[in-house]
Amino acid sequence: MARQTMLSCVVAALWLWVRLTCVDGQWIDGVSALAVDYYRARDVKSVIAFGCWNHTQRHEIFHTLTRDGRMMVQFVPDLAKVHPNPYSKGGMLIDATCESALNEMRQMGRELNKLLVGNLFWLFVENPPNDTHRTDGDLAEYLVELYNDRFHSLETMPYTNVVIGVRNPETDSWTLVELFKPYRNARLVPEVIVTGFETTCGGENLLRKSLARLSARSAARRRNLQGYSMPCGTATTSPEYFKGMDDRNDVHDLFTKANFPFIRELMYDLNFTLNMVQVDAVGYKNNSTFSGVMGKFQNRSIELGCMGCLMRTERLEVVDFMVVTLIIRSSIIFRQPPLSIVSTSSSCRSASACGCRQPKYPAPT
Ligand SMILES: *[C@@H]1O[C@H](CO)[C@@H](O)[C@H](O)[C@H]1NC(C)=O
Ligand SMILES: *[C@@H]1O[C@H](CO)[C@@H](O)[C@H](O)[C@H]1NC(C)=O
Ligand SMILES: *[C@@H]1O[C@H](CO)[C@@H](O)[C@H](O)[C@H]1NC(C)=O
Ligand SMILES: *[C@@H]1O[C@H](CO)[C@@H](O)[C@H](O)[C@H]1NC(C)=O
Ligand SMILES: *[C@@H]1O[C@H](CO)[C@@H](O)[C@H](O)[C@H]1NC(C)=O
Ligand SMILES: *[C@@H]1O[C@H](CO)[C@@H](O)[C@H](O)[C@H]1NC(C)=O
Repeated sequence: MARQTMLSCVVAALWLWVRLTCVDGQWIDGVSALAVDYYRARDVKSVIAFGCWNHTQRHEIFHTLTRDGRMMVQFVPDLAKVHPNPYSKGGMLIDATCESALNEMRQMGRELNKLLVGNLFWLFVENPPNDTHRTDGDLAEYLVELYNDRFHSLETMPYTNVVIGVRNPETDSWTLVELFKPYRNARLVPEVIVTGFETTCGGENLLRKSLARLSARSAARRRNLQGYSMPCGTATTSPEYFKGMDDRNDVHDLFTKANFPFIRELMYDLNFTLNMVQVDAVGYKNNSTFSGVMGKFQNRSIELGCMGCLMRTERLEVVDFMVVTLIIRSSIIFRQPPLSIVSTSSSCRSASACGCRQPKYPAPT
């Protein structure tokens, strides 16, 4: 009799255990399958995963992503130690149901921003209670509220790729929403990628099509900075001669003036306005602090340079260079001969080849 009770107890416990692992398994299975489809649709080959999963759950995620997705997976205990390769595509899978993961993100604050540049595709997975949303619009609004708070100091600018996957527990399907901010302190803009997405076979292709449709639709929105007053730095090394960016009569600060039309074009193209900060030097590094405009970049008091400057390696610590606007060549120079000799010589045709004149314009810095 006792044996029988014990046996039924064991069976009951076993059933409970199976049931628990099944309920939990559904979430982990769902997350793994979604990650496979999403990252395959993005052609991502290696994924960093961050959440509070135990050994069994990690094994499950690892197994699914490597077997079905043929991806490399790395579980990180600490986001501060992540150094993604900026030149290759990568995925970042974050379990938003894990409170400690979100806490760590909050504590990292601005430090996290360095993980947003580069080709990193973020996927946050959400498992909200049943009644938090009904329509797509409500869901997008719910996510914007939630993530405006979570991404308070995070620069999810238009060039970033942040997607939230929300599970619908009733149908076991997913809604994917993309979020970005048009500028640093703006509210997040949601874009619904797909609703009722099921991770069956062919999910990858369906997602690929939805993503292509979305990028066609949202390109214009991502290029509209909504009239943002962009803090922009410029260097005027000879302020006593400065009569405005359009003054071509004066040869001082010509490099800055020559580049300004590009900035103006960019301003109309991306719908922002300028909030100019003028200093007297482009700036160099001295004992880990930069001076001039570069110092303002380091200070984070400006976000754009309304000028051109030389691409020096150490400046890459504080800025990204956009495009080459002026090709500078150096030539052989020698002491200026007396004018009488120059005027009788017929071989001097090109200033840069001959070097017979002093440079007319001050060199850019
Ligand atoms: C992992 O977590 C799940 C859900 O919390 C639990 O059911 C499972 O027993 C855990 N596995 C281990 C090895 O702790
Ligand atoms: C959500 O609703 C479904 C059916 O409506 C129910 O089976 C499930 O237990 C609910 N889940 C939660 C977390 O409340
Ligand atoms: C630029 O942004 C402003 C402010 O949001 C907006 O009113 C205007 O319509 C935008 N211009 C274009 C061309 O989108
Ligand atoms: C570099 O900074 C030190 C003080 O930290 C100063 O004494 C020195 O003059 C600076 N050098 C240049 C080239 O500005
Ligand atoms: C450079 O910075 C370090 C640390 O801030 C400081 O100890 C050192 O005195 C600085 N050197 C100069 C030349 O200012
Ligand atoms: C950067 O900010 C610090 C204080 O926040 C200030 O002392 C320093 O002068 C600033 N540097 C530049 C180049 O503006």
